[in-house]
Amino acid sequence: MSSAAPAVDKASAKQARVVASPARAERLLAHFHQIRDFTTALCANLEAEDFVVQSMPDVSPTKWHLAHTTWFFETFILKKFASGYRAEIPQYAYLFNSYYNAAGDMHRRDLRGLISRPTVREAQRYRSSIDSHIDNLLSDADEKLLDHIEPILILGIHHEQQHQELLVTDIKHVFAQNPLHPVFRENKAEIAPSKPALMHFLDFEETTFEIGHDGLGFSYDNEGPRHRALVAGFSIASRPVTNGEYLQFIEDGGYRRSQFWLSLGWTAVNEQRWEGPLYWTKRDGAWWNFTLSGFRPVDASEPVTHVSYFEADAYANWAGARLPTEFEWERAASDCPIEGNFVENERFHPQGLISSGEDRRLQQMFGDVWEWTRSAYSPYPGYRAVSGALGEYNGKFMCNQYVLRGGSCATSRTHIRRTYRNFFQPEKRWQFTGIRLARDPQ
Ligand SMILES: [Fe+2]
Repeated sequence: MSSAAPAVDKASAKQARVVASPARAERLLAHFHQIRDFTTALCANLEAEDFVVQSMPDVSPTKWHLAHTTWFFETFILKKFASGYRAEIPQYAYLFNSYYNAAGDMHRRDLRGLISRPTVREAQRYRSSIDSHIDNLLSDADEKLLDHIEPILILGIHHEQQHQELLVTDIKHVFAQNPLHPVFRENKAEIAPSKPALMHFLDFEETTFEIGHDGLGFSYDNEGPRHRALVAGFSIASRPVTNGEYLQFIEDGGYRRSQFWLSLGWTAVNEQRWEGPLYWTKRDGAWWNFTLSGFRPVDASEPVTHVSYFEADAYANWAGARLPTEFEWERAASDCPIEGNFVENERFHPQGLISSGEDRRLQQMFGDVWEWTRSAYSPYPGYRAVSGALGEYNGKFMCNQYVLRGGSCATSRTHIRRTYRNFFQPEKRWQFTGIRLARDPQ
């Protein structure tokens, strides 16, 4: 008798615990698997040999992206919350940690391309194994445990989306080294060169504006705290700079005239012998462009991409303009719908804007190309990185980098926000980075 009562209580308690959150767990798991599956889908046309090449220190092999995103869930969820969890291959903690010092030592980033083992198949098996453990943990979790896991799982999902973008830009750099010009994905639609839309400048008056994320839904810590900033009057271009416009800068000697360039930029031009955007090659007097759909002539109507901050700044100087600040950009974007050419389109290339006459709206603020701003990547007033390894996610990079806004053709539609702050060093060119001009009031 005395043993029966507690047994019933225990059973009903367990039932209550399991039944309490199936919808929530299911929703989280559906989201988790949707993002994990998209990573796999991005690799659909790759051969095993493609997965292991590291073409420069900034590029990681595809296999490393597959394993590192998995390591994130293993390290920050399974090892913390799955009781009795033991890593099948403990050395993966060293191999697939990227930069989290608080999570332990790590393999050197520039040597990732030397790692032939685990094989691609073993890396894929690692993914499946961790996914199963996450399935089990969440299916069996009570509300309290889900409260702890959910924010980290969502962070891991956004982290994976960031790596999806890197996977695309990294394989582009890998393929670009190959004289056979491998095709990552055939174009779904025929690309017909079009007449680009006219560029207008839209005026914004001086105002005090709320900058940063409002706290509703997910954001990275670097998007806060939300704060008021005085944004002086400015004008901003209705669309990004096109290849055709950038060609005029090249043909006007832009890369040979120091007066347009920052000192560090001029050094980069000369040391790296830049003559045009990354992936542009001149053949028989015409510019060609390596794209993820193959090698083809530069299309004048497309937004220019794969330019560094230095090139963006020099172009703006040549054009009698400047780059926007990130606050100007965020203010201008506040009324723009978050729609555009994102990775879900699977074009993997920016798209030209077809002329629409006197349309004076801001266009292509989201998708196509990340837009360099002239704002140094630094903390907003009151920002403090959280303690522990996840505090290393953004805060420790707030030095010597510039903020980019708006996302690209390799960014997920569900990953970008108006307040999203991407950041890269000013000489980097392998991301889909482009130019939107701004001006002081005339
Ligand atoms: Fe990462």
